[in-house]
Amino acid sequence: MSADPIVSLISRRSIKFVQGPAPTDDDQARILQSAVSAPDHGKLEPWRFKIIRDAAVQQLADMALGAVKASGQALPPEKEANARRWLHNVPLLIGVACHLDHANTKIPEHERLLATGAAVMNILNAAHMLGYGAFWSTGIGTYVDEVAENLGFDPLDYRFMGFVSIGTPIQSTAAPKRSDYSRFVSHWGAPG
Ligand SMILES: Cc1cc2nc3c(=O)[nH]c(=O)nc-3n(C[C@H](O)[C@H](O)[C@H](O)COP(=O)(O)O)c2cc1C
Repeated sequence: MSADPIVSLISRRSIKFVQGPAPTDDDQARILQSAVSAPDHGKLEPWRFKIIRDAAVQQLADMALGAVKASGQALPPEKEANARRWLHNVPLLIGVACHLDHANTKIPEHERLLATGAAVMNILNAAHMLGYGAFWSTGIGTYVDEVAENLGFDPLDYRFMGFVSIGTPIQSTAAPKRSDYSRFVSHWGAPG
């Protein structure tokens, strides 16, 4: 890991296939503390994290894929096999939900979702900086109500936002090639 924090940020990439060891308890705590350091309009703290570790990851795979099938959504065998291949050795999965907090009408709902997304970004960056591989997925039943309910997130009160897998990379992978930022930037106003 580079001592330059910007080099570290720029070299982050998602790593889908990971195995044990899982983050140590101390590293897991640091990753989650990073998550709750995300920007948050109105201090609503909308983020919620469900920790699923070790053998519970396979229970989660069974529960979520079973719920997808029961919902009537198509789950072709190759899609199920891909999901199981991904989760096969994952030692830590974090289910992410956003508390909608209907009592607060001041902060628009999309800002709570953005704050929770920013928390996930901090998880991805913290995991990367600690040498782990992490990957955010909205597969395996993220949008099936029963999955969120089984994880304790009533869809009336929470928007389930997917799963982040974290562990030790199985293979080392090069830093990704990114677009030059200038493609997305334009200037406004007279230069000073
Ligand atoms: C909200 C969100 C949901 C995602 N869900 C999936 C997914 O279900 N399956 C998938 O293959 N990639 C998914 N991705 C993309 C990967 O997490 C990852 O960003 C992508 O593979 C590019 O890798 P990079 O982060 O190294 O650029 C999702 C990304 C985001 C932001």
